[in-house]
Amino acid sequence: MSTTKKSGNFSGQLGFVLASAASAIGVGNLWRFPYLAAKDGGGVFLFIYLVLVLTFGYSLLMTDIVIGRRTKSSAVHAYEKISKKWKPLGIVIFCVPAIILAYYAVIGGWIAKYFAVFLVGQGEQAATDGFFGSFITSSWSPVLFSAAFLAVTTLIIYLGVEKGIEKAATFIMPLLLLTIVGVACFALTLVHTDEAGVTRTGWEGFLFYVTPDFTGMTLGRLLQITLDAMSQLFFSLSVSMGIMITYGSYAKPEVDLSKSASHIEIFDTMAAVLIGIMIIPAIYVFSGTEGMGAGPSLMFISLPKIFSAMGSSGAYVGVAFFAMATLAAITSSVSIMEPVVADCMELFKSGRNKTVAALTAFYMAAAAVVALGYSVFYVELPLPNGSVGQILDVLDYISNCLMMPVASLMTCLFIGWVVGPQWIIDEVETFGNKFGRKAVYCVMMKYVTPVLLFILFLESTGLMKLFL
Ligand code: PFF
Repeated sequence: MSTTKKSGNFSGQLGFVLASAASAIGVGNLWRFPYLAAKDGGGVFLFIYLVLVLTFGYSLLMTDIVIGRRTKSSAVHAYEKISKKWKPLGIVIFCVPAIILAYYAVIGGWIAKYFAVFLVGQGEQAATDGFFGSFITSSWSPVLFSAAFLAVTTLIIYLGVEKGIEKAATFIMPLLLLTIVGVACFALTLVHTDEAGVTRTGWEGFLFYVTPDFTGMTLGRLLQITLDAMSQLFFSLSVSMGIMITYGSYAKPEVDLSKSASHIEIFDTMAAVLIGIMIIPAIYVFSGTEGMGAGPSLMFISLPKIFSAMGSSGAYVGVAFFAMATLAAITSSVSIMEPVVADCMELFKSGRNKTVAALTAFYMAAAAVVALGYSVFYVELPLPNGSVGQILDVLDYISNCLMMPVASLMTCLFIGWVVGPQWIIDEVETFGNKFGRKAVYCVMMKYVTPVLLFILFLESTGLMKLFL
Protein backbone atom coordinates (compact mmCIF):
# COMPACT_ATOMS: atom_id res chain seq x y z
CA MET A 1 0.00 0.00 0.00
CA SER A 2 1.38 3.32 -1.00
CA THR A 3 1.84 5.83 1.77
CA THR A 4 1.44 8.81 -0.51
CA LYS A 5 -1.56 11.04 -0.06
CA LYS A 6 -3.12 10.29 -3.45
CA SER A 7 -6.55 8.82 -2.90
CA GLY A 8 -7.67 8.16 -6.47
CA ASN A 9 -9.88 9.84 -9.04
CA PHE A 10 -13.41 9.71 -10.33
CA SER A 11 -13.49 7.99 -13.73
CA GLY A 12 -14.83 11.08 -15.52
CA GLN A 13 -17.34 13.93 -15.46
CA LEU A 14 -20.39 11.70 -14.98
CA GLY A 15 -18.81 9.87 -12.06
CA PHE A 16 -17.85 13.16 -10.44
CA VAL A 17 -21.31 14.69 -10.90
CA LEU A 18 -23.14 11.58 -9.67
CA ALA A 19 -20.95 11.21 -6.58
CA SER A 20 -21.33 14.90 -5.76
CA ALA A 21 -25.09 14.83 -6.31
CA ALA A 22 -25.28 11.71 -4.12
CA SER A 23 -23.45 13.66 -1.44
CA ALA A 24 -25.79 16.61 -1.76
CA ILE A 25 -29.04 14.63 -1.72
CA GLY A 26 -29.44 13.44 1.85
CA VAL A 27 -31.17 14.02 5.14
CA GLY A 28 -31.21 17.75 4.38
CA ASN A 29 -33.45 17.26 1.36
CA LEU A 30 -35.71 14.77 3.08
CA TRP A 31 -36.24 16.24 6.44
CA ARG A 32 -35.21 19.87 6.41
CA PHE A 33 -36.33 21.17 2.99
CA PRO A 34 -40.02 20.16 3.19
CA TYR A 35 -40.56 21.53 6.69
CA LEU A 36 -38.84 24.83 5.88
CA ALA A 37 -40.90 25.13 2.68
CA ALA A 38 -44.09 24.43 4.63
CA LYS A 39 -43.16 26.87 7.41
CA ASP A 40 -41.93 29.64 5.11
CA GLY A 41 -44.90 30.23 2.86
CA GLY A 42 -44.45 27.53 0.18
CA GLY A 43 -43.84 29.28 -3.11
CA VAL A 44 -42.09 32.25 -1.46
CA PHE A 45 -39.47 29.94 0.04
CA LEU A 46 -39.16 27.99 -3.23
CA PHE A 47 -38.59 31.17 -5.24
CA ILE A 48 -35.98 32.58 -2.85
CA TYR A 49 -34.28 29.20 -2.62
CA LEU A 50 -34.04 28.91 -6.43
CA VAL A 51 -32.55 32.41 -6.78
CA LEU A 52 -30.02 31.63 -4.06
CA VAL A 53 -29.07 28.26 -5.61
CA LEU A 54 -28.20 29.95 -8.89
CA THR A 55 -26.12 32.70 -7.28
CA PHE A 56 -25.02 32.09 -3.68
CA GLY A 57 -24.97 28.27 -3.81
CA TYR A 58 -23.30 28.17 -7.22
CA SER A 59 -20.49 30.48 -6.09
CA LEU A 60 -19.74 28.51 -2.93
CA LEU A 61 -19.93 25.20 -4.78
CA MET A 62 -17.60 26.36 -7.57
CA THR A 63 -15.12 27.74 -5.03
CA ASP A 64 -14.87 24.46 -3.12
CA ILE A 65 -14.61 22.29 -6.23
CA VAL A 66 -11.95 24.48 -7.83
CA ILE A 67 -9.86 24.78 -4.65
CA GLY A 68 -9.81 20.98 -4.54
CA ARG A 69 -9.01 20.38 -8.17
CA ARG A 70 -6.40 23.10 -8.49
CA THR A 71 -4.48 22.05 -5.36
CA LYS A 72 -5.23 18.32 -5.75
CA SER A 73 -5.58 18.23 -1.96
CA SER A 74 -8.14 18.14 0.81
CA ALA A 75 -8.93 21.17 2.98
CA VAL A 76 -5.89 21.45 5.28
CA HIS A 77 -3.23 21.00 2.61
CA ALA A 78 -5.29 22.83 0.00
CA TYR A 79 -5.38 26.06 2.02
CA GLU A 80 -1.75 25.62 3.04
CA LYS A 81 -0.73 25.22 -0.60
CA ILE A 82 -2.49 28.42 -1.61
CA SER A 83 -1.16 30.42 1.33
CA LYS A 84 0.67 29.18 4.43
CA LYS A 85 -0.96 31.92 6.52
CA TRP A 86 -4.44 30.59 5.72
CA LYS A 87 -3.78 27.00 6.80
CA PRO A 88 -5.82 27.51 10.05
CA LEU A 89 -8.90 28.07 7.88
CA GLY A 90 -8.24 24.69 6.28
CA ILE A 91 -8.09 23.17 9.75
CA VAL A 92 -11.45 24.72 10.73
CA ILE A 93 -12.98 23.38 7.51
CA PHE A 94 -11.57 19.91 8.26
CA CYS A 95 -13.22 19.99 11.71
CA VAL A 96 -16.71 20.60 10.28
CA PRO A 97 -17.31 17.15 8.68
CA ALA A 98 -15.27 15.57 11.48
CA ILE A 99 -17.92 16.82 13.93
CA ILE A 100 -20.93 16.28 11.66
CA LEU A 101 -20.14 12.61 11.03
CA ALA A 102 -20.55 11.75 14.72
CA TYR A 103 -24.21 12.77 14.68
CA TYR A 104 -25.09 12.15 11.02
CA ALA A 105 -24.34 8.45 11.69
CA VAL A 106 -26.89 8.56 14.52
CA ILE A 107 -29.61 10.12 12.33
CA GLY A 108 -28.68 7.58 9.63
CA GLY A 109 -29.16 4.84 12.22
CA TRP A 110 -32.63 6.19 13.11
CA ILE A 111 -33.62 6.15 9.43
CA ALA A 112 -32.25 2.60 9.02
CA LYS A 113 -34.31 1.52 12.07
CA TYR A 114 -37.51 2.87 10.47
CA PHE A 115 -36.64 1.10 7.23
CA ALA A 116 -36.20 -2.17 9.15
CA VAL A 117 -39.50 -1.66 11.01
CA PHE A 118 -41.45 -1.01 7.79
CA LEU A 119 -39.65 -3.86 5.97
CA VAL A 120 -40.79 -6.44 8.51
CA GLY A 121 -44.35 -5.15 8.18
CA GLN A 122 -44.51 -3.33 11.53
CA GLY A 123 -45.06 0.14 10.14
CA GLU A 124 -48.21 0.46 12.29
CA GLN A 125 -46.02 0.30 15.39
CA ALA A 126 -43.93 3.22 14.14
CA ALA A 127 -47.15 5.26 13.91
CA THR A 128 -48.03 4.83 17.58
CA ASP A 129 -47.52 7.71 20.01
CA GLY A 130 -44.23 7.53 21.82
CA PHE A 131 -42.57 5.08 19.40
CA PHE A 132 -39.81 7.48 18.35
CA GLY A 133 -39.22 8.71 21.90
CA SER A 134 -38.95 5.23 23.35
CA PHE A 135 -36.62 4.15 20.51
CA ILE A 136 -34.12 6.98 20.88
CA THR A 137 -34.15 6.76 24.68
CA SER A 138 -33.49 3.01 24.70
CA SER A 139 -29.93 2.02 25.41
CA TRP A 140 -29.00 -0.50 22.70
CA SER A 141 -31.10 -0.09 19.61
CA PRO A 142 -29.94 3.42 18.52
CA VAL A 143 -26.30 2.45 19.14
CA LEU A 144 -26.59 -0.75 17.10
CA PHE A 145 -28.38 0.92 14.20
CA SER A 146 -25.87 3.77 14.03
CA ALA A 147 -23.02 1.22 14.14
CA ALA A 148 -24.60 -0.72 11.25
CA PHE A 149 -25.08 2.49 9.29
CA LEU A 150 -21.48 3.50 9.92
CA ALA A 151 -20.25 0.02 8.92
CA VAL A 152 -21.86 0.34 5.46
CA THR A 153 -20.46 3.88 5.11
CA THR A 154 -16.92 2.80 5.94
CA LEU A 155 -17.10 -0.27 3.69
CA ILE A 156 -17.85 1.97 0.70
CA ILE A 157 -15.02 4.32 1.66
CA TYR A 158 -12.64 1.42 2.19
CA LEU A 159 -13.25 0.31 -1.42
CA GLY A 160 -11.86 3.65 -2.64
CA VAL A 161 -12.89 6.60 -4.77
CA GLU A 162 -13.79 4.90 -8.05
CA LYS A 163 -14.66 1.38 -6.88
CA GLY A 164 -16.45 2.48 -3.72
CA ILE A 165 -17.78 6.05 -3.75
CA GLU A 166 -18.43 6.37 -7.49
CA LYS A 167 -19.85 2.85 -7.92
CA ALA A 168 -22.20 3.27 -4.95
CA ALA A 169 -23.45 6.60 -6.33
CA THR A 170 -23.92 5.19 -9.84
CA PHE A 171 -26.00 2.35 -8.46
CA ILE A 172 -27.96 4.29 -5.84
CA MET A 173 -28.79 7.56 -7.64
CA PRO A 174 -31.11 6.17 -10.36
CA LEU A 175 -32.90 4.05 -7.74
CA LEU A 176 -33.30 7.07 -5.55
CA LEU A 177 -34.70 9.31 -8.26
CA LEU A 178 -37.11 6.64 -9.48
CA THR A 179 -38.46 6.10 -5.96
CA ILE A 180 -38.82 9.83 -5.32
CA VAL A 181 -40.71 10.36 -8.61
CA GLY A 182 -42.89 7.28 -7.97
CA VAL A 183 -43.90 8.28 -4.44
CA ALA A 184 -44.37 11.94 -5.48
CA CYS A 185 -46.81 10.89 -8.25
CA PHE A 186 -48.66 8.71 -5.75
CA ALA A 187 -48.89 11.58 -3.23
CA LEU A 188 -50.60 13.75 -5.86
CA THR A 189 -53.37 11.17 -6.30
CA LEU A 190 -54.26 10.99 -2.59
CA VAL A 191 -57.80 11.89 -1.44
CA HIS A 192 -59.03 11.74 2.16
CA THR A 193 -62.18 12.76 4.04
CA ASP A 194 -61.60 13.44 7.74
CA GLU A 195 -63.98 12.93 10.68
CA ALA A 196 -65.41 16.44 10.22
CA GLY A 197 -66.37 15.45 6.65
CA VAL A 198 -63.76 17.68 5.00
CA THR A 199 -62.24 16.18 1.85
CA ARG A 200 -58.70 17.18 0.90
CA THR A 201 -56.75 16.10 -2.18
CA GLY A 202 -53.07 15.69 -2.96
CA TRP A 203 -53.41 18.20 -5.77
CA GLU A 204 -54.67 20.88 -3.34
CA GLY A 205 -51.66 20.07 -1.14
CA PHE A 206 -49.40 20.51 -4.14
CA LEU A 207 -50.92 23.93 -4.87
CA PHE A 208 -50.40 24.87 -1.20
CA TYR A 209 -46.73 23.91 -1.62
CA VAL A 210 -46.02 25.89 -4.78
CA THR A 211 -48.29 28.92 -4.37
CA PRO A 212 -46.57 31.86 -2.67
CA ASP A 213 -48.33 32.81 0.56
CA PHE A 214 -47.78 36.52 1.21
CA THR A 215 -50.13 36.81 4.20
CA GLY A 216 -48.45 38.73 7.00
CA MET A 217 -45.32 39.16 4.89
CA THR A 218 -43.01 41.85 6.28
CA LEU A 219 -39.45 42.78 5.46
CA GLY A 220 -38.31 41.00 8.63
CA ARG A 221 -40.12 37.82 7.62
CA LEU A 222 -38.65 37.98 4.11
CA LEU A 223 -35.18 38.23 5.66
CA GLN A 224 -35.95 35.26 7.92
CA ILE A 225 -37.05 33.17 4.91
CA THR A 226 -33.88 34.18 3.04
CA LEU A 227 -31.75 33.13 6.01
CA ASP A 228 -33.59 29.80 6.27
CA ALA A 229 -33.03 29.20 2.56
CA MET A 230 -29.34 30.09 2.90
CA SER A 231 -28.69 27.77 5.82
CA GLN A 232 -30.56 25.05 3.95
CA LEU A 233 -28.28 25.59 0.96
CA PHE A 234 -25.14 24.96 3.03
CA PHE A 235 -26.60 21.81 4.44
CA SER A 236 -27.97 20.60 1.15
CA LEU A 237 -25.15 21.37 -1.27
CA SER A 238 -22.51 20.04 1.16
CA VAL A 239 -20.47 23.25 0.76
CA SER A 240 -18.03 24.94 3.14
CA MET A 241 -17.16 21.75 4.96
CA GLY A 242 -14.39 20.34 2.83
CA ILE A 243 -16.58 17.73 1.13
CA MET A 244 -16.57 19.39 -2.27
CA ILE A 245 -12.88 20.33 -1.89
CA THR A 246 -12.02 16.65 -1.50
CA TYR A 247 -14.38 15.53 -4.28
CA GLY A 248 -13.00 18.33 -6.50
CA SER A 249 -9.48 17.02 -5.89
CA TYR A 250 -10.62 13.70 -7.41
CA ALA A 251 -11.96 15.37 -10.60
CA LYS A 252 -9.69 14.86 -13.60
CA PRO A 253 -8.20 17.99 -15.27
CA GLU A 254 -10.45 17.73 -18.33
CA VAL A 255 -13.70 17.72 -16.32
CA ASP A 256 -15.79 20.82 -17.12
CA LEU A 257 -16.27 22.23 -13.62
CA SER A 258 -18.80 24.93 -14.48
CA LYS A 259 -21.12 22.46 -16.20
CA SER A 260 -20.58 19.92 -13.41
CA ALA A 261 -21.52 22.45 -10.71
CA SER A 262 -24.70 23.33 -12.63
CA HIS A 263 -25.61 19.65 -12.95
CA ILE A 264 -24.99 19.01 -9.24
CA GLU A 265 -27.25 21.95 -8.37
CA ILE A 266 -29.96 20.77 -10.76
CA PHE A 267 -29.91 17.24 -9.29
CA ASP A 268 -29.97 18.46 -5.71
CA THR A 269 -32.68 21.08 -6.23
CA MET A 270 -34.82 18.76 -8.32
CA ALA A 271 -34.59 16.12 -5.59
CA ALA A 272 -35.49 18.66 -2.88
CA VAL A 273 -38.50 20.00 -4.81
CA LEU A 274 -39.72 16.48 -5.70
CA ILE A 275 -39.33 15.33 -2.10
CA GLY A 276 -41.47 18.34 -1.15
CA ILE A 277 -44.08 17.14 -3.68
CA MET A 278 -43.89 13.73 -2.06
CA ILE A 279 -44.25 14.89 1.55
CA ILE A 280 -46.25 18.14 1.64
CA PRO A 281 -49.38 16.95 -0.23
CA ALA A 282 -49.43 13.76 1.89
CA ILE A 283 -49.32 15.77 5.12
CA TYR A 284 -51.90 18.21 3.80
CA VAL A 285 -54.33 15.44 2.83
CA PHE A 286 -54.21 13.68 6.20
CA SER A 287 -53.45 16.49 8.66
CA GLY A 288 -54.43 19.71 6.85
CA THR A 289 -52.36 22.88 7.08
CA GLU A 290 -51.91 22.42 10.87
CA GLY A 291 -49.87 19.27 10.15
CA MET A 292 -47.29 21.41 8.37
CA GLY A 293 -45.99 22.87 11.63
CA ALA A 294 -44.49 19.50 12.63
CA GLY A 295 -40.91 20.80 12.30
CA PRO A 296 -37.99 18.44 12.78
CA SER A 297 -40.22 15.63 14.05
CA LEU A 298 -41.84 15.46 10.61
CA MET A 299 -39.88 12.49 9.31
CA PHE A 300 -39.97 10.26 12.36
CA ILE A 301 -43.33 11.11 13.92
CA SER A 302 -45.70 12.66 11.35
CA LEU A 303 -44.80 10.59 8.30
CA PRO A 304 -45.32 7.13 9.88
CA LYS A 305 -48.77 8.32 11.02
CA ILE A 306 -49.53 9.42 7.48
CA PHE A 307 -48.38 6.10 6.01
CA SER A 308 -50.65 4.37 8.51
CA ALA A 309 -53.59 6.59 7.51
CA MET A 310 -53.05 5.59 3.85
CA GLY A 311 -54.26 2.08 4.68
CA SER A 312 -52.74 -0.98 3.00
CA SER A 313 -50.76 1.00 0.40
CA GLY A 314 -49.11 2.94 3.24
CA ALA A 315 -47.04 -0.11 4.23
CA TYR A 316 -45.45 -0.23 0.74
CA VAL A 317 -45.02 3.53 0.51
CA GLY A 318 -43.35 3.44 3.95
CA VAL A 319 -40.86 0.76 2.86
CA ALA A 320 -40.08 2.66 -0.36
CA PHE A 321 -39.70 5.96 1.49
CA PHE A 322 -37.39 4.72 4.23
CA ALA A 323 -35.37 2.53 1.82
CA MET A 324 -34.81 5.62 -0.29
CA ALA A 325 -34.01 7.72 2.78
CA THR A 326 -31.47 5.14 4.02
CA LEU A 327 -29.71 5.07 0.64
CA ALA A 328 -29.65 8.86 0.43
CA ALA A 329 -28.24 9.10 3.95
CA ILE A 330 -25.55 6.49 3.22
CA THR A 331 -24.16 8.25 0.13
CA SER A 332 -24.18 11.53 2.07
CA SER A 333 -22.46 10.06 5.08
CA VAL A 334 -19.83 8.56 2.75
CA SER A 335 -19.17 12.08 1.50
CA ILE A 336 -18.93 13.45 5.05
CA MET A 337 -16.40 10.79 6.04
CA GLU A 338 -14.27 10.89 2.88
CA PRO A 339 -12.76 14.37 3.50
CA VAL A 340 -11.91 13.33 7.07
CA VAL A 341 -10.20 10.19 5.70
CA ALA A 342 -8.47 12.11 2.90
CA ASP A 343 -7.24 14.86 5.23
CA CYS A 344 -5.91 12.32 7.72
CA MET A 345 -4.19 10.38 4.91
CA GLU A 346 -2.47 13.60 3.83
CA LEU A 347 -1.62 14.77 7.33
CA PHE A 348 -0.34 11.45 8.69
CA LYS A 349 0.92 10.11 5.34
CA SER A 350 -0.99 6.93 6.05
CA GLY A 351 -2.64 4.51 3.63
CA ARG A 352 -6.40 4.31 3.07
CA ASN A 353 -6.91 0.98 4.85
CA LYS A 354 -5.24 1.98 8.09
CA THR A 355 -6.84 5.43 8.12
CA VAL A 356 -10.32 4.02 7.50
CA ALA A 357 -9.85 1.39 10.23
CA ALA A 358 -8.69 3.95 12.81
CA LEU A 359 -11.46 6.43 11.97
CA THR A 360 -14.11 3.71 11.97
CA ALA A 361 -13.16 2.73 15.51
CA PHE A 362 -13.20 6.36 16.60
CA TYR A 363 -16.58 7.15 15.03
CA MET A 364 -18.23 3.96 16.29
CA ALA A 365 -17.41 5.21 19.79
CA ALA A 366 -18.33 8.84 19.07
CA ALA A 367 -21.66 7.92 17.46
CA ALA A 368 -22.47 5.65 20.42
CA VAL A 369 -21.98 8.59 22.80
CA VAL A 370 -24.20 10.84 20.65
CA ALA A 371 -26.85 8.10 20.32
CA LEU A 372 -26.87 7.69 24.08
CA GLY A 373 -27.33 11.43 24.46
CA TYR A 374 -31.06 10.76 24.89
CA SER A 375 -30.61 8.19 27.67
CA VAL A 376 -27.36 7.49 29.54
CA PHE A 377 -25.70 10.78 28.60
CA TYR A 378 -28.83 12.94 28.61
CA VAL A 379 -28.08 16.64 29.04
CA GLU A 380 -30.03 19.84 28.54
CA LEU A 381 -27.64 22.44 27.25
CA PRO A 382 -28.80 25.97 26.49
CA LEU A 383 -27.66 27.17 23.06
CA PRO A 384 -26.85 30.80 22.19
CA ASN A 385 -29.82 30.93 19.80
CA GLY A 386 -32.20 30.45 22.72
CA SER A 387 -32.96 26.74 22.30
CA VAL A 388 -32.02 23.88 24.61
CA GLY A 389 -30.43 20.77 23.14
CA GLN A 390 -28.93 17.35 23.69
CA ILE A 391 -25.46 16.25 22.50
CA LEU A 392 -26.66 15.87 18.91
CA ASP A 393 -28.13 19.38 18.80
CA VAL A 394 -25.01 20.87 20.33
CA LEU A 395 -22.76 19.25 17.72
CA ASP A 396 -25.15 20.36 14.99
CA TYR A 397 -25.16 23.89 16.35
CA ILE A 398 -21.35 24.12 16.59
CA SER A 399 -20.74 22.70 13.11
CA ASN A 400 -23.67 24.04 11.10
CA CYS A 401 -24.52 27.30 12.81
CA LEU A 402 -21.12 28.50 14.01
CA MET A 403 -18.26 26.94 12.08
CA MET A 404 -19.83 26.65 8.64
CA PRO A 405 -20.88 30.31 8.19
CA VAL A 406 -17.56 31.51 9.62
CA ALA A 407 -15.51 29.15 7.41
CA SER A 408 -17.56 30.17 4.43
CA LEU A 409 -17.25 33.90 5.15
CA MET A 410 -13.47 33.60 5.56
CA THR A 411 -13.23 31.60 2.32
CA CYS A 412 -15.13 34.34 0.46
CA LEU A 413 -12.79 36.99 1.82
CA PHE A 414 -9.77 34.82 1.00
CA ILE A 415 -10.80 34.01 -2.58
CA GLY A 416 -12.62 37.29 -3.28
CA TRP A 417 -10.03 39.69 -1.88
CA VAL A 418 -6.72 37.93 -1.13
CA VAL A 419 -6.26 35.38 -3.92
CA GLY A 420 -8.72 36.99 -6.34
CA PRO A 421 -11.52 35.29 -8.32
CA GLN A 422 -9.22 35.07 -11.38
CA TRP A 423 -7.41 32.19 -9.61
CA ILE A 424 -10.67 30.23 -9.73
CA ILE A 425 -11.57 31.36 -13.26
CA ASP A 426 -8.19 30.24 -14.68
CA GLU A 427 -8.68 26.71 -13.38
CA VAL A 428 -12.26 26.47 -14.69
CA GLU A 429 -11.22 27.68 -18.14
CA THR A 430 -8.40 25.17 -18.64
CA PHE A 431 -8.93 22.88 -21.64
CA GLY A 432 -11.00 25.66 -23.23
CA ASN A 433 -13.97 25.01 -20.90
CA LYS A 434 -16.38 27.92 -20.34
CA PHE A 435 -17.19 29.50 -16.98
CA GLY A 436 -20.94 29.98 -17.40
CA ARG A 437 -21.76 32.48 -14.67
CA LYS A 438 -18.35 34.19 -14.38
CA ALA A 439 -19.62 37.72 -13.75
CA VAL A 440 -22.18 36.50 -11.21
CA TYR A 441 -19.42 34.53 -9.50
CA CYS A 442 -17.10 37.54 -9.12
CA VAL A 443 -19.80 39.84 -7.74
CA MET A 444 -21.11 37.17 -5.40
CA MET A 445 -17.70 36.24 -3.98
CA LYS A 446 -16.49 39.79 -3.47
CA TYR A 447 -19.59 41.60 -2.28
CA VAL A 448 -22.92 39.83 -1.87
CA THR A 449 -21.99 36.49 -0.31
CA PRO A 450 -19.78 37.91 2.48
CA VAL A 451 -22.58 40.27 3.54
CA LEU A 452 -25.21 37.50 3.46
CA LEU A 453 -22.93 35.19 5.41
CA PHE A 454 -22.24 37.79 8.03
CA ILE A 455 -25.99 38.30 8.53
CA LEU A 456 -26.48 34.52 8.70
CA PHE A 457 -23.78 34.27 11.34
CA LEU A 458 -25.40 37.03 13.42
CA GLU A 459 -28.73 35.28 13.16
CA SER A 460 -27.56 31.79 14.03
CA THR A 461 -25.56 32.97 17.03
CA GLY A 462 -28.44 35.02 18.36
CA LEU A 463 -26.38 38.22 18.00
CA MET A 464 -28.89 39.63 15.52
CA LYS A 465 -31.20 40.57 18.39
CA LEU A 466 -28.57 43.07 19.54
CA PHE A 467 -28.92 44.93 16.24
CA LEU A 468 -32.69 44.81 15.77
N1 PFF B 1 -25.90 17.39 1.85
C1 PFF B 1 -26.21 16.19 2.57
C2 PFF B 1 -27.60 16.29 3.17
O1 PFF B 1 -28.36 17.17 2.81
O2 PFF B 1 -27.96 15.46 3.99
C3 PFF B 1 -25.14 15.80 3.52
C4 PFF B 1 -24.82 16.76 4.62
C5 PFF B 1 -23.64 17.34 4.69
C6 PFF B 1 -25.72 17.10 5.59
C7 PFF B 1 -23.34 18.21 5.70
C8 PFF B 1 -25.44 17.95 6.60
C9 PFF B 1 -24.29 18.54 6.65
F1 PFF B 1 -24.02 19.42 7.58
